[in-house]
Amino acid sequence: MIVSALRWVGGIDGYLEIVDQRRLPGEFVKLQCRTVEQVFDAIKTLAVRGAPALGVAAAYGLVLALQELTGDVGVERALQQCARACDYLASSRPTAVNLFRALDRVKSEAERFAAANNNAATEQLRQAVLDEANAICAEDEQLCRRIGQNGEPFIKDGAAVLTHCNAGALATAGQGTALSVLFEAHKKGKRFRVYADETRPLLQGSRLTAWELLQAGIDVTVVCDNMAGWLMKQGKVDLVITGADRIAANGDTANKIGTYSLSVLAKAHGIPFYVAAPSSTFDLDIETGEQIPIEERDADELRFVGDGQVAPEGVDVYNPAFDVTPAENITTIITDRGIIESPSRATVAQHFK
Ligand code: MRU
Repeated sequence: MIVSALRWVGGIDGYLEIVDQRRLPGEFVKLQCRTVEQVFDAIKTLAVRGAPALGVAAAYGLVLALQELTGDVGVERALQQCARACDYLASSRPTAVNLFRALDRVKSEAERFAAANNNAATEQLRQAVLDEANAICAEDEQLCRRIGQNGEPFIKDGAAVLTHCNAGALATAGQGTALSVLFEAHKKGKRFRVYADETRPLLQGSRLTAWELLQAGIDVTVVCDNMAGWLMKQGKVDLVITGADRIAANGDTANKIGTYSLSVLAKAHGIPFYVAAPSSTFDLDIETGEQIPIEERDADELRFVGDGQVAPEGVDVYNPAFDVTPAENITTIITDRGIIESPSRATVAQHFK
């Protein structure tokens, strides 16, 4: 069984339903978002998370923003509301480009619809916005499946795979990116073992990836982040595969904090390092990873694990949520379009030609 992280329920007066990832693995609870503020909060607090899922959630957030308008206020007023909600949702998390791409796409569609239908009722514009959000959601599902199919040949029978954070179904509207590759290999009957990095500070690896892989019947072992090097040294890892939050034009890749260290370790041990991501995660307007904004999160995420305090009160904390893996540390990027071997400005450009 592959879990579905989020879905829209109903028509233009409907709501966004998400699996509350803050409560996994202890509780499987669904959260109903009925206002744009609830979507913002769900994104900010990681109830919904993972680059593609953020884009889908934000797109539906715009539908909820338009529900606030009562009566037929006209398309101009509705477009203003949409633009305000875009700015608001865009301020939730800065790193995953999918969020901004989805917001821009829905807003552009609303503007296009308004220009083409001057006298349209607000309700019709709301329907156009919902249709576009639904299209982004459905496309993501397809992209995930194709990534899995394109990446599956890299998983050899008997392989040991190390992954970091959660790039599974919970992070997308489909079956994930890095984990999609594993799901497809599993479907083909390949036997392999996965090491899931715990992924401090918010434990997406042990809480979410381990949970998803267990649900799917895949052999998974949780390790602390600081065990990766020793696992590699002992020859226990054949390949590393992660997702991505934003990939620059030269192939530099932002992903969950700790990914960079893994790439260095993989290189030092001669282990291939794969990144699996949809085309919607590429930001070709950004030349290199240095231009990717890195989110810094609350100090208490490090000072506490759950309710337990693990650092002195008031101690200084540095808590970047992402890091950037340079393209030269990446063996291959697997996308919905195929693969980019030895990512560089030239090979990325060729892939998107
Ligand atoms: O802070 P998160 O949990 O949103 O970070 C998620 C990741 O870093 C994932 O690896 C990335 O978004 C890829 S998800 C398919």
